[in-house]
Amino acid sequence: MTLQRLLGIELPIIQAPMAGVQGSALAVAVSNAGGLGSLPCAMLSLDAIRKELAAIKARTDKPFNVNFFCHAPPAPSGEREATWRAALAPYYEEYGIDAVAIPVGPGRAPFSAAAADLLDEFKPPVVSFHFGLPSADLLARVRALGAKILSSATTVEEARWLEAQGVDAIIAQGLEAGGHRGIFLSEDLSTQIGTFALLPQIVREVKLPVIAAGGIADAKGVAAAMALGAAGVQIGTTYLLCPEATTSAVHRAALKSEAARNTALTNLFTGRPARGIVNRVMRELGPIGAAVPAFPLAVGAIAPLRAKAESRGSGDFTPLWSGQNASGCKAVPAADLTRELAAGL
Ligand SMILES: Cc1cc2nc3c(=O)[nH]c(=O)nc-3n(C[C@H](O)[C@H](O)[C@H](O)COP(=O)(O)O)c2cc1C
Repeated sequence: MTLQRLLGIELPIIQAPMAGVQGSALAVAVSNAGGLGSLPCAMLSLDAIRKELAAIKARTDKPFNVNFFCHAPPAPSGEREATWRAALAPYYEEYGIDAVAIPVGPGRAPFSAAAADLLDEFKPPVVSFHFGLPSADLLARVRALGAKILSSATTVEEARWLEAQGVDAIIAQGLEAGGHRGIFLSEDLSTQIGTFALLPQIVREVKLPVIAAGGIADAKGVAAAMALGAAGVQIGTTYLLCPEATTSAVHRAALKSEAARNTALTNLFTGRPARGIVNRVMRELGPIGAAVPAFPLAVGAIAPLRAKAESRGSGDFTPLWSGQNASGCKAVPAADLTRELAAGL
């Protein structure tokens, strides 16, 4: 079955859910243009999710995707927190921040029974997960709503695992991708490979439709992914400058600058590896830190630095999430961008 048929969409183009830089407006624009718009819920309260879902329902009758993280919340470690704050101490001093007053990370909430109750009210046609899948009973609840279920695989092994759990399609997330790696069966980053290495290997190993993600920035990239066996594509970075995205001014400026050519995987901002444009804190401390608190607890310690720096117009402590290919970013309406991406199909 084609991805279009499976998901009820006209174009096999999924706007990647991107927590922190977009809400319902971008999702609505892409869904109304014939692609699949996505609402990222990882950083939203249940009330905020309800408002956003109501906004989507009011503004489109096309299918849309609701996305959740499904990590296991870690036990806080006082020792790791202290070591990490000690590493950040010179920056706290530079910015006049009282380190003692900084709360432990608010973080991101994983998919929960309360979130499943909310989905009951809105019956989203598609639900996607990052970092694996929720528990079997929660997954069964999502399936019972009639939603098609997607999740990201970063290795052939993860794709096989997701197929065995009964997902409807697999997102092959190559190493080029912006934002968090969906990696969940291992923590070994040497297992992570590029989109055009990963995609054909997953296509060969599973029977499900495979959606290519990572580094796709124009119609030729979309066509190339389809030529390698993708049933569709999931595109994030390319949408970041659209007026419907809520991407901050410092993030937009970085994406438009030469700096966007230099990205790296970093765990400094959340505790899990994610790809972003290299900035001051990544350069000075190194992008991967062994003492950084586990995801999502690392968010707390860096938050006041980020806020102070941003108030001065600096992205030195901001997660500037971006894939390796920001060359397709354009400040044009998301509907136009979606149609441009689909032009070669
Ligand atoms: C700013 C940003 C935020 C992201 N947030 C999420 C998220 O909340 N949930 C998710 O499943 N994927 C997230 N991703 C990853 C995307 O799903 C996708 O894998 C990636 O955007 C594809 O690579 P590209 O950015 O090169 O197009 C994010 C990506 C970016 C760039």
